[in-house]
Amino acid sequence: MPDSRKIRSISRRLNIELDHLSNPIRQRRFRWGVWCTVVPIVLIALAAVTGKWTIYWARPVASQHHSIGNDCGQCHSKHLQPIVALAGRFGLPGAAHASSVTDQDCQNCHREDTFDHNPVMVDHAIGGCVACHNEHRGQDALSLVADGNCTLCHGDLKTTDESSTFHSGITSLDTHPEFALLQTPTESGPAKGHAVHSVAELDQGTWRDKSQLYFNHETHLSDDGVLLPADHPDNGDGDQSRVLTCADCHLPDDRGEYMQPVVYEKHCQECHRLEVSESLLVGGELPHAAPGLLAGILRERLVAYAQTHPAEVSPPANATDVLPNKSTPTAPAPKDAWEWAERRLSSGDTFRSVTSACNLCHAKDANPTAGAIAALNIVAPQVPERWMPHSQFSHRRHEAVDCTECHEGVGDSSSATDILMTSIDTCRNCHASRNMVNSNRNVRTDCIQCHRYHNHLSGTDHRKPAAAD
Ligand code: HEC
Ligand code: HEC
Ligand code: HEC
Ligand code: HEC
Ligand code: HEC
Ligand code: HEC
Ligand code: HEC
Ligand code: HEC
Ligand code: HEC
Ligand code: HEC
Repeated sequence: MPDSRKIRSISRRLNIELDHLSNPIRQRRFRWGVWCTVVPIVLIALAAVTGKWTIYWARPVASQHHSIGNDCGQCHSKHLQPIVALAGRFGLPGAAHASSVTDQDCQNCHREDTFDHNPVMVDHAIGGCVACHNEHRGQDALSLVADGNCTLCHGDLKTTDESSTFHSGITSLDTHPEFALLQTPTESGPAKGHAVHSVAELDQGTWRDKSQLYFNHETHLSDDGVLLPADHPDNGDGDQSRVLTCADCHLPDDRGEYMQPVVYEKHCQECHRLEVSESLLVGGELPHAAPGLLAGILRERLVAYAQTHPAEVSPPANATDVLPNKSTPTAPAPKDAWEWAERRLSSGDTFRSVTSACNLCHAKDANPTAGAIAALNIVAPQVPERWMPHSQFSHRRHEAVDCTECHEGVGDSSSATDILMTSIDTCRNCHASRNMVNSNRNVRTDCIQCHRYHNHLSGTDHRKPAAAD
């Protein structure tokens, strides 16, 4: 076999005109070259004419942005710079955080305050919205923010006022601090900005729930049940009791996240009617009304009582019962039922008798200031709706777990001041990566499972981008 590379020189030597014969390989090479140039030009031209920029996609944008997926300029206000962006990914100085997408592009649709993670944030170089919200990465990536984006700051938290309200050094759930409610506070913290202060107050070195309501889980959850009132419809022979479960007072909200607030009318009234003196029971038991309304209701009831008991209005009954103070025993008898009622109200006796009924559940106010509730001399309760508002939680996701696994002390709690939350160690029983000790389960451990990033404490709802308004 002759060496093919030498064929040309051989042909020249022998003067055979092989050069003019067509070479199929060369022809194919040429045709490919033409196609490779023409096709992209046609496609680019087509894209330009039809406005379908999708040909440049590596992957489509996330489903939430589908409607603007083809309108690249909505996000890319600057020129696309894939090479620089790639260099940035490899840490090339100068290219770091280079992007064709600016925060302003995102904020044209998403309100500006979405970025206020915390007002005391020191400007860390996190690279803006696109550092956490990845586009063109498949449908779910947009909100699945990786831990690295949080631990970047929380691994070593720096704030403008130098003292942080919150723990630093959090690099994973393994190094996560105990919940503040279950920690022994130190001299220095947590500072006032921590929401633990809105739920609890310090009492002899431990946190006490400051809801100011008297309630005893232990008695109400007794295995033998609680006695029903004598006139309760379910109380047949007079000494029936009922065994209460958590669900009698605690039901999850519509989203299954937090428990609905306990309400007197729904959860207490059937066993604890507001027992007051006979003159206040005209029209039935006293409603559990706001103190502002209560004064009016009391007046109405006293008047109604006086009208149906004229003998008590005139001649005046027992002076001490009627008159505000004993030093004026000769005060004239009240003109009518209205005046009788007014005198009883201003004497304070009526309020005192009502207060004693309220005091079963409500603390006495040691320093009442002016106002309707001060007349009653009780403290308005403040049972929190959220106990750990720096996190998010879902009761529905834990339906399979027994309530007392996370609220251990409930059965033995005889005071509403007890904190009935569990330690983070309980969470780690399940929320743990396989390599953690004591764990045979494997539930997600990433920060955003339990936390949000944007400033939700400010009460602004930025779920709705302005564009959708
Ligand atoms: C919802 C906003 C959004 C839309 C719409 C969008 N992109 Fe992107 N795109 C991004 C983000 C965010 C990045 C990542 C930027 C970074 O990491 O710096 C990106 C990155 C890119 C990159 C690589 C990095 C760069 O800056 O060059 C290309 C190329 C790109 N997009 C092309 C397109 C094209 C073409 C379209 C229209 C068909 C489009 N994108 C539509 C948000 C968007
Ligand atoms: C042209 C308007 C527009 C622009 C520009 C835009 N978005 Fe959106 N974005 C939307 C709309 C509309 C939704 C869907 C809203 C919804 O589902 O409630 C959305 C949803 C989102 C969501 C919520 C996803 C979820 O899981 O619910 C995130 C995060 C988001 N955008 C981030 C960004 C980022 C980051 C940028 C800049 C790269 C950006 N957006 C640019 C309109 C826009
Ligand atoms: C740019 C820095 C930075 C990044 C990134 C960051 N944080 Fe923060 N974070 C802070 C600062 C600063 C505070 C407030 C500290 C203080 O008040 O003492 C804070 C406070 C918090 C708090 C407690 C206060 C609150 O608002 O509930 C939580 C929880 C939190 N961050 C979670 C996260 C999570 C989850 C991520 C990731 C998605 C994240 N952080 C990313 C800087 C950052
Ligand atoms: C008869 C009604 C009633 C029943 C039954 C009841 N609770 Fe409560 N629970 C309350 C009231 C009232 C409060 C608010 C007062 C307080 O802060 O303790 C409360 C508060 C709580 C709190 C938050 C208080 C804190 O300090 O942490 C938890 C947790 C709780 N209950 C769990 C349970 C569990 C678990 C059960 C069942 C084993 C249960 N409760 C049964 C009435 C009830
Ligand atoms: C099914 C009936 C029933 C319901 C519902 C009920 N209780 Fe009671 N409660 C009782 C009985 C019976 C006692 C007396 C128990 C005892 O002394 O052994 C009692 C006692 C109390 C006491 C006295 C303090 C103590 O240490 O026992 C308070 C305070 C109280 N209940 C508050 C409430 C509140 C608040 C609610 C609603 C969240 C409520 N109860 C719901 C039956 C009930
Ligand atoms: C058997 C227990 C019980 C008795 C007795 C009781 N309350 Fe309450 N009260 C509650 C509970 C539980 C709450 C918190 C949930 C709610 O608002 O219903 C509450 C809440 C309140 C509030 C705050 C309402 C709000 O919207 O924040 C006021 C004010 C109040 N009670 C006044 C009274 C007065 C006045 C009396 C006496 C006439 C009284 N209560 C008697 C259990 C009781
Ligand atoms: C996996 C652990 C876990 C289980 C199981 C659990 N809880 Fe909770 N519970 C929590 C946490 C965490 C909070 C604090 C939520 C917050 O930040 O307000 C809480 C809060 C509460 C509160 C206070 C109101 C609120 O929602 O914040 C009540 C009441 C309560 N739980 C009752 C129950 C009852 C009743 C059950 C059983 C049906 C139950 N919990 C099961 C962890 C649990
Ligand atoms: C299994 C759920 C869970 C996971 C995962 C989790 N946290 Fe938390 N974290 C909580 C709860 C609950 C609190 C208590 C919130 C409160 O006290 O209001 C908390 C508190 C915090 C606080 C406030 C600490 C303080 O000083 O009181 C910070 C900061 C925080 N977490 C950051 C993170 C970061 C960063 C990650 C990811 C590495 C993370 N968390 C992962 C549940 C979780
Ligand atoms: C018995 C196991 C178990 C325990 C204990 C447990 N969790 Fe979970 N948790 C789960 C499972 C399973 C899921 C669902 C995971 C999923 O959907 O990927 C979950 C999901 C969650 C979610 C996500 C809810 C959502 O809306 O998607 C949060 C937040 C959470 N857990 C917080 C906690 C906290 C805080 C504690 C401790 C007080 C705790 N968990 C204890 C098993 C547990
Ligand atoms: C440090 C990471 C981080 C940065 C930087 C960041 N986000 Fe987010 N973003 C998150 C996390 C985590 C969530 C999901 C939980 C939440 O809502 O906080 C989220 C959710 C959102 C949502 C969905 C709304 C919602 O409440 O669920 C929008 C819209 C959004 N971000 C827009 C932006 C915009 C615009 C920027 C830039 C100005 C930005 N984000 C910067 C972490 C970040």
